[in-house]
Amino acid sequence: MLENRKIILGITGSIAAYKAVYLARTLIKRGAEVQVVITPSGKEFITPVTLSSLTQKPVISEFFTANTGEWHSHVDLGLWADAMLVAPATASTIAKMANGIADNMLVTTYLSARSPVFVAPAMDFDMYRHPTTRRNLDLLRSYGNHIIEPAEGALASGLEGKGRMEEPEKIADILDRFFDESGSFAGKRVMVTAGPTYEKIDPVRFIGNYSSGKMGYAIAAAFAARGADVTLVSGPVTLSAPAGVKRVDVESAREMYNVATACFPDTDIAVMCAAVADFAPAQTAVSKIKRGTDGMTLQLVPNPDIAAALGKMKKPGQILAGFALESDNEEANARHKLEKKNLDFIVLNSLADKGACFGGDNNKVTVISRSGDIKACPMKSKSEVAEDIVTYISEMFLK
Ligand code: C5P
Repeated sequence: MLENRKIILGITGSIAAYKAVYLARTLIKRGAEVQVVITPSGKEFITPVTLSSLTQKPVISEFFTANTGEWHSHVDLGLWADAMLVAPATASTIAKMANGIADNMLVTTYLSARSPVFVAPAMDFDMYRHPTTRRNLDLLRSYGNHIIEPAEGALASGLEGKGRMEEPEKIADILDRFFDESGSFAGKRVMVTAGPTYEKIDPVRFIGNYSSGKMGYAIAAAFAARGADVTLVSGPVTLSAPAGVKRVDVESAREMYNVATACFPDTDIAVMCAAVADFAPAQTAVSKIKRGTDGMTLQLVPNPDIAAALGKMKKPGQILAGFALESDNEEANARHKLEKKNLDFIVLNSLADKGACFGGDNNKVTVISRSGDIKACPMKSKSEVAEDIVTYISEMFLK
């Protein structure tokens, strides 16, 4: 799929810049045309001569070539590309991209690019997990960029952890798969529910849960990247809507139920990822409940089961998927939910898996189909899990 694809390879000042040489070679071997744009600090790690010899193109770094005065048009370059790939991407370049600080050729080209953009971070473990970097990556994701999560392992700093740039072959595979699958969901209307629900006790208190919405948002983004028309019905979360996704904000399970059941008849594929509260207070107090000396009992009533309601409404041709978070008897419980809610498949999250949790960036899932087929996946980033789920739907239901 990379044959004749025009790819801008953005290289920044990381020790992983040496891997960009292999990356350029891998992309070229697979038929791509590669134009390197390198930041000034990137040149401290790898020489432009190596890269230009390999790509058969002059490497672009500055806005002007010093001796000839030739101007390099970031606009033309941005329009030329079928994809832009920033690998390795340092914390600094990620911050500049997220905030539009266009003080070098690479970030300026990024802002001019109309093509999909892939970012492969490479940095020290502590820099990678710093809230600033997390926020900048979330911002880039919300603008529709594809983040290629770094791998775990030994880092140049001597520390161990997440931060190693993904291997060149794997990055090339991701681009390959992207070109293969872009547009494969064109014309498909998808609904995803995500996040927690808040059930009001009084004007300032609620019953909620720790769901961050990351899994559902990643699924919505993955569908949108493949051309689907996506509606994201979202409980209260701090994430921004992925690019190209229509987001409908709700607070309670009842509100989510109303939106989801109204949307479902015009939906081809629904993925129920929200952590819906099972109960709501029987009554919401009009004013703030005052502290008393006695204990207090809150009476709860069950919320509607949204997935089960859609399961009853489902017509032939519609696909309905759910999630199950289980702590014991996992497969049997998940299968039971699949039947009870009339789902086409269910994604099982196990509470026994350390590292796969509410709010985290990783997840370990098992996909169980109606016919009983089981696909157990290793621990992956939530965006990779989202890609796997969307690919599963494509393979099982669209081909
Ligand atoms: O029954 P349980 O809550 O474990 O089922 C989980 C699945 O059902 C998830 O897909 C979740 O989004 C969905 N669900 C729902 N409405 C509820 C409860 C769960 O859509 N009230």
